[in-house]
Amino acid sequence: MYKLAISVVSLFFLFACNQGSEQLKVVKHNNFVPYSPPVPYKEAVKKAGEIVNNMTIDEKIEMIGGHNSFFIHEVESANLPRLYLSDATQGVHLRKNLDAQLEKSVALPCPILLTSTWNRELAGKYASCVGEECRAGGIAVLLGPGMNLYRIAQNGRNFEYFGEDPYLAARMIENYVVGMQRTGTIATLKHFVCNNTDHRRRTSNSVVSNRTLHELYLPAFKAGVDAGAMAVMTAYNQVNDEWAAQSDFVVNKTLRKDLGFKWLVMSDWWSVWDPEKAIKSGLDLDMPGDGDLNWSMFNKFGDTFLRSNAKRLLNEGKVSESDISRMARNIIATELAMELDKKPVKDTSLLEKFPMHEKIGLQTAREGIVLLKNENNLLPIEGEELKILATGFFMDKRMSGGGSADVEGYNWVTLIDALRNRFGEQVVFNPQATNKEIEKADIVIVSVGTLDSEGWNRSFDLPDEMDSRVREIAALNSNVVVVVNSGGGVNMAEWNDDVAAILYSWYPGQMGNTALAEILAGDVSPSGKLPISIEKMAEDAPGYPFLPEGEELYTGWDIDSQLDSAVYDIIYDEGVFTGYRWYEAKKIEPLYPFGFGLSYADFEYSKLKLSASKIKPGETLTVKFVLENTGDVEAAEIAQLYISDPKASVDRPVKELKNFIKVNLMPGEKILVELEIGPEDMSFYNENTAAWVAEPGKFNVLVGAASNDIRLEKSFELMEQN
Ligand code: BGC
Repeated sequence: MYKLAISVVSLFFLFACNQGSEQLKVVKHNNFVPYSPPVPYKEAVKKAGEIVNNMTIDEKIEMIGGHNSFFIHEVESANLPRLYLSDATQGVHLRKNLDAQLEKSVALPCPILLTSTWNRELAGKYASCVGEECRAGGIAVLLGPGMNLYRIAQNGRNFEYFGEDPYLAARMIENYVVGMQRTGTIATLKHFVCNNTDHRRRTSNSVVSNRTLHELYLPAFKAGVDAGAMAVMTAYNQVNDEWAAQSDFVVNKTLRKDLGFKWLVMSDWWSVWDPEKAIKSGLDLDMPGDGDLNWSMFNKFGDTFLRSNAKRLLNEGKVSESDISRMARNIIATELAMELDKKPVKDTSLLEKFPMHEKIGLQTAREGIVLLKNENNLLPIEGEELKILATGFFMDKRMSGGGSADVEGYNWVTLIDALRNRFGEQVVFNPQATNKEIEKADIVIVSVGTLDSEGWNRSFDLPDEMDSRVREIAALNSNVVVVVNSGGGVNMAEWNDDVAAILYSWYPGQMGNTALAEILAGDVSPSGKLPISIEKMAEDAPGYPFLPEGEELYTGWDIDSQLDSAVYDIIYDEGVFTGYRWYEAKKIEPLYPFGFGLSYADFEYSKLKLSASKIKPGETLTVKFVLENTGDVEAAEIAQLYISDPKASVDRPVKELKNFIKVNLMPGEKILVELEIGPEDMSFYNENTAAWVAEPGKFNVLVGAASNDIRLEKSFELMEQN
């Protein structure tokens, strides 16, 4: 039992400390160290400027658009090779029609599962795996991490992203970026910005206020930029009436000026519709750079590629050579900073690390699968005589999200493989189990889920046949465990009360079902917590209704590429109130709240202490509390720290996550946790002054096991500036 310890403790400094009369181990975060490229910006940009000065205008134009779908042009004079850019956040997407970069790549658990681990260090390790596989295949640039905030459950791409909370997403992303780039692979933050739905994504217009942008939709990108990310990809959608890739507001003002991003900015594939605007917007690279103009999406604007339009625009005096030089210089500076002129991208010795990557994937799944319900402690399954019936819809299928993020993987362990490997003869598999089989089983494991994808959205409701099957089974057997595979929240209210246990397994990757079986068996205690709120019904959610009037959900790529459809507005009128911020402000109880997840152990929180009861503006507060595993098994807990600003000059959320820590504890183990809150954690974005402000007055510090499970509370005062 519980043989598989969770390796989170290495995150922290450990030393003894006096808490009252007790000597307790202190657990806190290591300082985060951002990535610095081998060649610093000033030097790289100077050298790039010299190279660009010696290039002809035709050579520069070759640089500002992609080639052969996924490549950046070489610069022979600078010893810079042609570079391959590959998808995506959860592993290398093999494109066998292009140069054979790799024979195989590991399909890791999807990023929303990674986020459910709340394990920052693991995010770095996970990203290093992807980065090493890139290098093994000669891939210079990873087209990820994707990090658009979870605004609606229906978004087909939620599985690729990092959940609903900007703080949690930011902490995971910064570690991802450093983990990726320390392998030498460039990370690309995408899709900038407000690409929060995939319904007609090229013809949607996200209408969003500056405050909402800065408090919700930018922090993950800002964290990525501050962590040293070397590339950003713009989004397909419009933001406040202009397509992101050609928007001065999006690229120049928000990304370059507000967030301070200096390196390579590329478009998403086929998303520049006005080359003049794009060149002026601050974009550097138009991807894929060329393509088949017979495709329906070109009906409206025709050939809008930068490479084919640049000469005309120069002749017409609409853009200048210095605009083109600036674009080429940014691309080349990024490459030089990463020393791509000095060493080959391809390092086949890294192929040896793939078994290690599989292990990291397994560990991620162990920590990111979320136990939502466990009535009468049905789980873990103990007793070798128990007969387990495995049934449902995806037991023998490869569950993963589709589109550019899809990773083929190898050696897939399906759910039924994993159950058989762990429980042997105890398991009987029948997708169409009879009533008799269901009644006779000691435990029934039912698989349901959705196959989410880029390019379209999906319904919050599961297909009727799944809901009715779960209800049917639950009527015949009281020991039903439902395993949900999905990239985001689904409607479980239909059968939630009828089943004994629910495990949210997201898309666990090629080896993740093994982790699920380990959790079922109790070899490891579940420790994932939801990075999203799961509503009871679609109508409860912010952003509802999420489809333009009169339209229906679709699948397939046709509608996605129809640029002729009228642009529709998505008004973010919920403002900063998404996710738990919304449910708490509206007093709507979700089915499962943000930050929630069960364990096989119990944890007690006590002795909350703040380093001061009053602090001056600009000061940091240290929050200490005791955390104890009062259960009888080893397990990891995610302690969450929220802040509330009860009286402010603007409406603020009831509470906001501002720190968290994941820590593994033996039964009976007790530690002292130390977390910090900085001035930025008390602030909101003031639209009038375009600055972050922390208003003096009382703040509450809330510490707990989930957004709806606050165990300790204390307040402090932020004093006036004198
Ligand atoms: C996606 C991007 C992806 C690109 C290249 C687009 O359809 O939106 O995320 O990186 O394709 O595959």
